[in-house]
Amino acid sequence: MKAFNRRNFIKGAGLTLLPAALPTIPALSHITSPEMPPNESIVKFYGDGEMYDGLSYLEQLQAANNKQPLKVDRYGAGGAIEELEKKFETITGKEKAIFMPSGTMANQFAIAMLSGENTKVYVQDTSHVYRDEADAAQSVFNKRLIPLAKNQTYFTAEELKRAIENLDNEEVFKSGIGCVSIENPVRRTDGRMIPIGEIKKISEYCRSKNLKLHLDGARLHMASAWSGISIREYSSYFDTVYISLYKYLGASGGAILCGQKSVIEKMPHMIKIHGGSMFGNWLNGAMASYKLDTIEETLKEAIRRSKEIFNTLNQIQGLKITALDNGTNIYELQVPINMNVQKFGDHLAKEYMIRISRPNAGGIARITVNETLLYREPKYIIDAFKDALNKAK
Ligand SMILES: Cc1ncc(COP(=O)(O)O)c(C=O)c1O
Repeated sequence: MKAFNRRNFIKGAGLTLLPAALPTIPALSHITSPEMPPNESIVKFYGDGEMYDGLSYLEQLQAANNKQPLKVDRYGAGGAIEELEKKFETITGKEKAIFMPSGTMANQFAIAMLSGENTKVYVQDTSHVYRDEADAAQSVFNKRLIPLAKNQTYFTAEELKRAIENLDNEEVFKSGIGCVSIENPVRRTDGRMIPIGEIKKISEYCRSKNLKLHLDGARLHMASAWSGISIREYSSYFDTVYISLYKYLGASGGAILCGQKSVIEKMPHMIKIHGGSMFGNWLNGAMASYKLDTIEETLKEAIRRSKEIFNTLNQIQGLKITALDNGTNIYELQVPINMNVQKFGDHLAKEYMIRISRPNAGGIARITVNETLLYREPKYIIDAFKDALNKAK
């Protein structure tokens, strides 16, 4: 049973046919009418949602344009960018939102602005800010990151309090605590979340000490969908919040930073002097804005269907899919130990256009629930797994 790949069909039709061949894809058509071929046919049990390639990106933009004509921005002002910023102000409940070319920039500028002249910044050891931003805080912004909770998803309010209270015993020269930055969910711990109770305690402690708090919420929609806590509530505990536009929101890059007007209004100057002010940003803004309108509904449906699929598959002997502790959309898949994992994966991919990460020697892999799960009915995915398991015995 080979799945129909509309994308290759369009490619085969030739690029010169592009304007006429571009089909209209109403928002959520893959949810409301499952028979319709999806814009991308591959169910991907990995990655940060659909990453549209050239042609499918244009299809999505055309669908967005059909819903509402796309409008260009100039240097981030007006058009699709302004519209996106307004939507994020509403979603987060923050006074102001601003588009930035990258999440790294959003994190670094937020931390720098919240810290002022003070240099010490508390972060998770596992955070993107600490491990994956090329020491920008230290080398560009004169901030010293102090990592807490080695290899853990989060530090507790108590641990933060102890570290701050101990500072005077551990260091002689004072340069002031700038802010605290938290990532949630945490990419390096397989998307695990910080319990909301702990976030509340950290926020209360920071406010009592007049310390500013930043949230790297690159994948905040995942935390929200899996915990049931709104983006607005999460945001309320922080001074600034960054959300990625290309993880789960389909854009080919970009970030949004939200916070108090007085903080966000400093950002255009920061973006300009760091060379991040781009003439046109609307292609990313329009895509993210379009996807943002339906992301909650899409994720809700993906969760509902994943439960149905996983519950059924878990009745198969030797196969087990389990949620991670405090997890979001990343699960552990255990396949029968003596199975040919290569055959299993190849069969799923070639015959059913379902891709999973290759299980390790112990038969364990991480699988991710994202919108691509909706490209096929649960029964199709369940039957595909059963067939692949049989073939790989
Ligand atoms: C948690 C987290 N924060 C920030 C970033 C940075 O985003 P960007 O690639 O837009 O700089 C990433 C990117 O992978 C991330 O995973």
